[in-house]
Amino acid sequence: MSRPLRAVLLAAGRGTRMNSDRPKVLHEIFGRPLLDYPLVSLRQLGVKRPVVVVGWGKEEVLSHLPHGVVDSVTQTPQLGTGHAVQAARRKVGGFRGDLLVWPADMILLQKETLSRLLRGHRESGAAVTVLSSFRVDPTGYGRVLRRGGRVIGIREELDADEAEKRIHEVNTGVYVFEPRALFRALEKIRPKNRKKEYYLTDTVRLIDEAGGRVEALPYAPPEEAQGINSQADLASATRILSQKNILNHQRQGVTIVSPEQTFIAPEVSIGRDTVIYPWTFIERGVRIGRKCRIGPFARIRSGSVIEDGAVIGSFVEVVRSRIGKKVLAKHLTYLGDATVGAGTNIGAGTITANYDGLQVGDKAKTGAGAVLTRGTKIGKGRVFVGVPARPLNRDRSRGSRKS
Ligand code: UD1
Ligand code: CA
Repeated sequence: MSRPLRAVLLAAGRGTRMNSDRPKVLHEIFGRPLLDYPLVSLRQLGVKRPVVVVGWGKEEVLSHLPHGVVDSVTQTPQLGTGHAVQAARRKVGGFRGDLLVWPADMILLQKETLSRLLRGHRESGAAVTVLSSFRVDPTGYGRVLRRGGRVIGIREELDADEAEKRIHEVNTGVYVFEPRALFRALEKIRPKNRKKEYYLTDTVRLIDEAGGRVEALPYAPPEEAQGINSQADLASATRILSQKNILNHQRQGVTIVSPEQTFIAPEVSIGRDTVIYPWTFIERGVRIGRKCRIGPFARIRSGSVIEDGAVIGSFVEVVRSRIGKKVLAKHLTYLGDATVGAGTNIGAGTITANYDGLQVGDKAKTGAGAVLTRGTKIGKGRVFVGVPARPLNRDRSRGSRKS
């Protein structure tokens, strides 16, 4: 059974615990603001025009939202997650279908997990289904309260007693609601808690008390059910995302010498039998071929394509460049906006900066410390040396070797 699906993304909070001038949802992981991650997942789920609740740092957050594909509403002041959903009422109050509510700081949730949640919600016919997760250390999260297995509410950490704090089933903050039941319950919530906020979590108890069916499905694996509240959480989410990407590359036959010392962004492709040495950072969208050697200490930035068999060695940075097959750039090099032909040997210390399309022909070579200036084109098989770099005369070099 398929019902129409809409979503509300909560992004109005200040993110006090980040201790930062920047609104929390604009902090970045692998070059993208946090806000982008749930937006991408919502698009993958087929949600049309999600409603984003903005408030703190509104102008800045709005300027990061993609144009024409999302709706936004403003929540001022920010009085809690329940209050935030109320701000979206004029957009989704009359909607009849499944309403997904998602806090923008839960960026690790995968589409498959959400699809399962939606299926579960549709099958049980619940008025609200909470996406929950079992965490070894549940500290900081709302706990799912059950009586005889049946969900009866959610208790925030600050308001929990000792017995409740021992509950390991936590609220991810993601729910599917039947909108009428949700907005009826929201009218009844009161800020009677330690934070004096309007808690969205209270709607679970209120829907239960009003006779609606309430479910919690523990479908979120712990590594996905991690919100970002602090700088430490931001770092840990980055690591989780990178390690997940690394595992996928390993399954595809890529050798990653030391995963903990390697960062690989999403949307990167790497061919089999390529070896990635430690302390390497690979940005979004990079494509690396087969049998390459990358690192140690390499930085491959967005817009780069590294073809089969190339060697990008220690202290080499590559950005927006195409590095041909079997190119050797083994040490101390910056290759920006360059197209490097197959088999080229890039000498130590080579820098191609502020260039639009430097061209180095197949099997060409540059000497150590060579400075290639504007307009230089290195032809096939040629050798360039010096400052500024000039072609090395083959005959003379052979002659000098003889003497
Ligand atoms: C919330 C849940 C908690 C759950 C946790 C999981 C409540 C009361 N608690 O706690 O049960 O375990 O998420 O991640 O809901 N926001 C607004 N307006 C506001 C306040 C918050 O838009 O007035 C947004 C924030 O930008 C954020 C999201 O709502 O994206 C969650 O707020 P946050 O303060 O991080 O809630 P938690 O304390 O993590
Ligand atoms: Ca949070």
